[in-house]
Amino acid sequence: MDKVRVGIAGLGRLGKVHANNIANKIKGAELVAACSIVEDELAYARNEFGVEKTYTDFNDMVKDPDIDAVVIVTTSSQHCWQIEAAMNAGKHVFSDKPLGVNLEECLQAKAAVDAHPELKFFLGFMRRFDPSYAYAKKKIEEGAIGTPYLVKAIGIDPESTVEGSIKFAKTSGGIFLDMAVHDIDLMRWFLGAEPTEVYATGCTFKHKEFSEAGDDETGVAMFKFDNGGIGTIHVGRTAPHGYHVETEIVGTDGTLRISPIPEKNLTMIYNEHGAVKECIENFGIRFDEAYRIEMEHFIDCVLNDKTPSVNVDDGVESTKIGFATTEAWKKGSAVKI
Ligand SMILES: NC(=O)c1ccc[n+]([C@@H]2O[C@H](COP(=O)([O-])OP(=O)(O)OC[C@H]3O[C@@H](n4cnc5c(N)ncnc54)[C@H](O)[C@@H]3O)[C@@H](O)[C@H]2O)c1
Repeated sequence: MDKVRVGIAGLGRLGKVHANNIANKIKGAELVAACSIVEDELAYARNEFGVEKTYTDFNDMVKDPDIDAVVIVTTSSQHCWQIEAAMNAGKHVFSDKPLGVNLEECLQAKAAVDAHPELKFFLGFMRRFDPSYAYAKKKIEEGAIGTPYLVKAIGIDPESTVEGSIKFAKTSGGIFLDMAVHDIDLMRWFLGAEPTEVYATGCTFKHKEFSEAGDDETGVAMFKFDNGGIGTIHVGRTAPHGYHVETEIVGTDGTLRISPIPEKNLTMIYNEHGAVKECIENFGIRFDEAYRIEMEHFIDCVLNDKTPSVNVDDGVESTKIGFATTEAWKKGSAVKI
């Protein structure tokens, strides 16, 4: 195989980004099919990328013998059954996060992945592939901050995209799964440990639609890890200044901070507002490179029979922790994980 023939499912906010990377930016990949329940999105795939085969039923797409790999970027509640169907049809699978929205289906997806060791499975925790996060991990491995023992993570979507977040809220799995799952994955990755206990709380001050959807607009959680380490997460939907993703890792000999100001670039504007640094507008811009690099990694694994660096167990563990965090938020008390 010198090119991986990819079928993509879901061409919403993120699906379009992945489709563009596969079609235009990754040498070893070819976008040959697309599946969506929205006809406009299929027309988009045909017009924008010249995709000839379009499907409204995922099960039909995975039957296509001319597809080697499936990229799943559908609504979170669809991931697990689609992973299972694709694997059982003999396709390599890239699924975006979260793995699933309940534990039972996650374990079912894991069983399907484990039953097919001949196929590659990758879960899209793209922050690990962002050059700054990857650099921080390398510095930690080189001993730059001694032993890491505390991770403080912030992930707040911009107020400018709040309408989309509100629309998405009902099917997202909740803020501690949908948003915090990235930070949960980073905490596990940076600390090299698993959380054993979590306390969480939340509030909604600006958009009551979030609480009406059974969620909250802001969430805060604190974790205790099995090596004695600590993690804190602050997630939200209403950053007025832009897309604020910031991570601090504290170690015995130093501290690393990734993106303490989510700056758009190195320009400082001096005007009547003072010395102003503009901020990154949205996740697509902030993690543009990471989405491309993670897809390159997946395609490289398929082409060259390598093991993907994020696997289904990372998906199950992070989702389990996300559920425990959601449970702690609902109960208002600490939950053992
Ligand atoms: N890694 C990240 O940074 C990141 C960022 C955004 C979204 N995501 C994840 O990506 C996924 C999609 O998010 P989004 O923001 O693009 O959502 P979206 O609502 O914009 O798009 C979802 C897409 O799924 C399609 N779809 C739904 N059910 C389907 C089915 N049964 N078969 C085929 N297509 C189906 C819809 O038509 C739509 O195209 C979610 O799971 C989300 O958690 C990850």
